[in-house]
Amino acid sequence: MDPIHNPFSPGAGSPPPELVGRDPDLEQARILLGRIKLKRSEKSLLLTGLRGVGKTVLLKEIESLSKKNGYRTIFIEAHENKRLGPLLIPYLRALLFDLDRQAGVNDKVKRALAVLRSFIGAVKLTVHDVSIGIDIEPEKGSADSGDLEIDLPSLFVAIGEAAEARKCAVALLIDELQYLSPKELGALIMAMHKVQQYQLPLVLFAAGLPTLPGLAGEAKSYSERLFSFPDIGALSSRDAARALEEPAQAAGVAFDPEALEEIYRLTKGYPYFIQEWGYQVWNLAPGSPITLQIVQDATAEVMPRLDENFFRVRFDRLTPSEKNFLRAMAELGPGAHRIGEVADILKIKATSLSPVRSDLIKKGMIYSPSYGEIAFTVPLFDEFMIRAIPDCSLV
Ligand SMILES: Nc1ncnc2c1ncn2[C@@H]1O[C@H](COP(=O)(O)OP(=O)(O)OP(=O)(O)O)[C@@H](O)[C@H]1O
Ligand SMILES: [Mg+2]
Repeated sequence: MDPIHNPFSPGAGSPPPELVGRDPDLEQARILLGRIKLKRSEKSLLLTGLRGVGKTVLLKEIESLSKKNGYRTIFIEAHENKRLGPLLIPYLRALLFDLDRQAGVNDKVKRALAVLRSFIGAVKLTVHDVSIGIDIEPEKGSADSGDLEIDLPSLFVAIGEAAEARKCAVALLIDELQYLSPKELGALIMAMHKVQQYQLPLVLFAAGLPTLPGLAGEAKSYSERLFSFPDIGALSSRDAARALEEPAQAAGVAFDPEALEEIYRLTKGYPYFIQEWGYQVWNLAPGSPITLQIVQDATAEVMPRLDENFFRVRFDRLTPSEKNFLRAMAELGPGAHRIGEVADILKIKATSLSPVRSDLIKKGMIYSPSYGEIAFTVPLFDEFMIRAIPDCSLV
């Protein structure tokens, strides 16, 4: 069928034609947005899930929901090699300038600009990579200590007060939150804690890997009282069928039930894989309906594509000892495993694997679902490792 009209959208953060199975999360977001405007306290949402389950697209959907509810939004993506302060500053500056331009001078907005100016000064002292001018005197003693855990809360309070004075609300959305340093995560949690204590109209939505609840808990023990961590997972077989059928139906194309079952069996309901299979079967099918045979034929094209793109980019970032570790872990199959089991396969002591284990966690390749256990963050990565290095005895 015509690839130009192909409705499926495999890709990082590409909105799917049909966002299925996420209604409970969107409902939770809607309630949070409503309650914050009414000065009622509610936990911020930190969406957690494996790679490719649809965290980014859900966060973007929450951003548009926030806008529909009259919020101003700031969307940033945390990064392994970028600091939180410099990432936030340009957006906060734009927001405050915008609030400042509204009719009538407002002291709270002017103050927030002065506090942001101090914050920039403090960040500059430590990173030297921000040169964003604000033509206003800094407010000495506010947000300028150089300690993010002190400065970020002061800044957020000043911004929340400015928004309140202008009768507006702000939604801050942060993707890949697990990449913040422990200090930054701690500062963010403290800042949201302050904002909540003062009942200011500033709300946080974030997304990250399943390591997030643990990292937040380590940074600040009270984080679980401030945040809820909805688990964004694979789709049920019914939702997976809807994700395929509904966009196709809109273009007058049907799926045979066996074709849908086969895609579910192969993808295990992971949204990224569903889009990838949907995309390939569409291009391969001569017309409606899409049959089991077409799915089987498309699989021969999808697997190498996944290997080359989705899996290979992650594989190529690994050192040889990390590859060895993951190959041994793949031998144990999907799910959670103890580090001792990996060590047994490699015929070495478990303690000697600690450094490589912690590097793999930092790279976001594995996480610890419960104490002493590890699992892959990328769905089906175990099967890929076996395809990439067929003979485990060679590792
Ligand atoms: N609910 C859904 N229904 C159907 N398709 C979806 C759904 N959510 C996401 N997708 C599709 O899955 C793919 C991955 O989505 P997204 O990039 O948001 O995942 P992610 O969890 O942010 O991944 P990563 O951890 O790698 O950043 C996209 O192609 C998107 O269109
Ligand atoms: Mg993402």
